[in-house]
Amino acid sequence: MSELISNIGELMTQDGELGTMSDAAMVLEGERIAWIGRSSDAPAADKHTDAQGRAILPGWVDSHSHLIFAGDRTAEFEARMAGESYSAGGIAVTMEATRAATDYDLTRLGLGRVAEAVAQGTTYLETKTGYGLDVEHEARSARIASTVADQVTYLGAHLVPNGMDADAYTELVCTDMLDAVRPYADWADVFCERGAFTPEQSRAVLTACRDAGLGLRVHGNQLGHGAGVELAVEFGAASVDHVNFLTEHDVALLAQSWSGWDGGAHAARGDGVRGTVATVLPACDLSTRAPLAPARTLLDAGVQLAIASNCNPGTSYTSSMAFCVATAVLQMGLSVHEAVRAATYGGALALGRESGRDADGERAVGSLAVGHRADLHMLRAPSATHLAYRPGMPLTAGVWRAGVRKA
Ligand code: NIG
Repeated sequence: MSELISNIGELMTQDGELGTMSDAAMVLEGERIAWIGRSSDAPAADKHTDAQGRAILPGWVDSHSHLIFAGDRTAEFEARMAGESYSAGGIAVTMEATRAATDYDLTRLGLGRVAEAVAQGTTYLETKTGYGLDVEHEARSARIASTVADQVTYLGAHLVPNGMDADAYTELVCTDMLDAVRPYADWADVFCERGAFTPEQSRAVLTACRDAGLGLRVHGNQLGHGAGVELAVEFGAASVDHVNFLTEHDVALLAQSWSGWDGGAHAARGDGVRGTVATVLPACDLSTRAPLAPARTLLDAGVQLAIASNCNPGTSYTSSMAFCVATAVLQMGLSVHEAVRAATYGGALALGRESGRDADGERAVGSLAVGHRADLHMLRAPSATHLAYRPGMPLTAGVWRAGVRKA
């Protein structure tokens, strides 16, 4: 089954060679993109969709979310808006509610959140554990996450549960808990921050999880200056996320990590060439009234950037990547093209999915080119600029995931 989409006013491919095209068309064949070119040159296909001059861009790749949870933290948000500052302790409230929920409810809630994201143009999504915080409930969260998301991150090192010794808990995260989640997880993460895990504890978690074969990511430099970026770069983590408080040294380390990169044409996860993506979380910065992450500085230094939703009940209860992109443009000084790139290709880079491996069917996501997965986001607008020009408007006009129309 093939589908021709013609009369695309602006096709922002985020592909280095194709760039942004006008009056474009594309043919989808099964799950892949089979052809891209000018509308006037388009071949015939089984089905025809007229984009009516609208813009199409890659589906959002949301590389940081926490969707496996139950409960509500409205009161904490209200207190924050009244002047309280965010602290990691709120995670315990969600842990209690999550442990009390049934498998059925956690799955239903997770699927509902993914459906909300897809309806807004997200076509590839990572999610984390981190609200179970014991062996049984972390394993359950990982198992459920693996049924609702494309990639799963083990975040047993999110908070030390009340009453537990921090070092004993860290040891559990590195041993029995890791063994229990390992079958379901692609990545491991650690919240390296005051009130969560010390640099030494974080190092232990990263070492054990790396040795178990998991890719690494770090929650770092969110609440203050700290060792998150340094550890992430030292361990070759795929991303360090939040990055609100950076020294010049942190920025230089991140930039340096990309100095040997080949531009991404054929890089695969773990090939030792790629650097550490800096993932900024604009909705979280607003919802916690934190200083915005220095996305402009990072880009100017040569760091590869991702934008993600960080959808979670504590610091960022939204999966709207369009909102994050608009904020990155309006508040962080990015161009629309840079912000869309970070929310598509950048997310794919952070998840090791930016390049295609046709042979095993794991096609590239986050950019549009022949052979890539047909993940498209059509806007009810003639250009991607409208994402920032008309912030908050319902601009999603169509979503295709692996060639299948989802919205
Ligand atoms: O990415 N920073 C740590 N984890 C989440 C917040 C978790 C929570 O407060 O529930 C985040 O912002």
